[in-house]
Amino acid sequence: MITSWQSPSNIALIKYWGKRHPQLPSNPSISFTLSECNTKTQVNFAQGSGVSISLDGVNQPTFIPKIEEFIKRISPRHPWLSSYSLSIETSNSFPHSSGIASSASGLSALSLCIVEFAEKIDFQYGATGFHQEASILSRLGSGSASRSIYGGLVVWGKTPSIENANDEYAVKYPHQVHPTFNNYFDVVLLVDIGEKAISSSIGHSLMDTHPFKEKRFSQAHQNLCDIQGPLRTGDLERFIEIVELEALTLHGLMMSSSPSYILLKPNTLAIIQKIREFRIDTGLPISFTLDAGANVHVLFPSSIKEKAMHFIKDSLTQHCKSHRYILDHVGDGPKRLPNFVE
Ligand code: PMV
Repeated sequence: MITSWQSPSNIALIKYWGKRHPQLPSNPSISFTLSECNTKTQVNFAQGSGVSISLDGVNQPTFIPKIEEFIKRISPRHPWLSSYSLSIETSNSFPHSSGIASSASGLSALSLCIVEFAEKIDFQYGATGFHQEASILSRLGSGSASRSIYGGLVVWGKTPSIENANDEYAVKYPHQVHPTFNNYFDVVLLVDIGEKAISSSIGHSLMDTHPFKEKRFSQAHQNLCDIQGPLRTGDLERFIEIVELEALTLHGLMMSSSPSYILLKPNTLAIIQKIREFRIDTGLPISFTLDAGANVHVLFPSSIKEKAMHFIKDSLTQHCKSHRYILDHVGDGPKRLPNFVE
């Protein structure tokens, strides 16, 4: 029996950085779910055991240990998995070498396929609904993947300012959002397309002994509380202040951990500088955020798309590898697909 899903990547505005067993966040986070950066996955379930995986039609035996580890982690919730073999076909909309992490989109797509199959065989899973169960499984694969299960703004991690927020699974941001955030744009500037300098699990573990960890965790709660005003009123000046502070804090934490890491490249800083100058010169609400890497996510409302794209093409893409960028925007979340490989 086959199940197929397309699931998007997401970009955190308030960053998850630091975790505790079993894959629970040390602080809450909120993200925009993206649209164009996504993974399509189809799983063929058969009686038996073992896993095979192909990416764009090419077998990837090196991915198997990671998938087996994921299945081991989710098996206590889904013991039926031990009686099935999984043949996984997957493809990413973004190039493998782009420096865009495929873990959020990839693990959420796989989790959705698994939960759909569990329903088909009438397995009673532990969560209170399909999406909640898919978010729990995704989280066990990669923390940020838990947020890819929903469209729009998504929160993961318990925090006093959001009633239903939870460490085990992500939830849709429950409060009213100003229309300026509808279809918000994220242009991903591909500054560095090599391997990430550190894996995210090593990155999270740096927080275990970080001298600023307690302050950081409480700051994330505060920032998540503070960003809710601008999300409601559309105050982009304040929104930008919080989002850029979060991005730079993430890198500041990496630079001040032991061992320390510098993932920003000279081109990352050149882009950040130009965005800030352009914002001051024009008054346009264009801003940036960063992942745990050198690429820059340029964020802006759809109302200034034309001007922002001119600026990006004229001034920023010269700092990218081969002038490459990905034009993305806030999306609606995962989609169930007709089976795409027969
Ligand atoms: O989901 P992970 O373990 O790859 O961690 C993601 C961490 C950041 O992307 C840096 C921040 C976030 O909240 O997505």
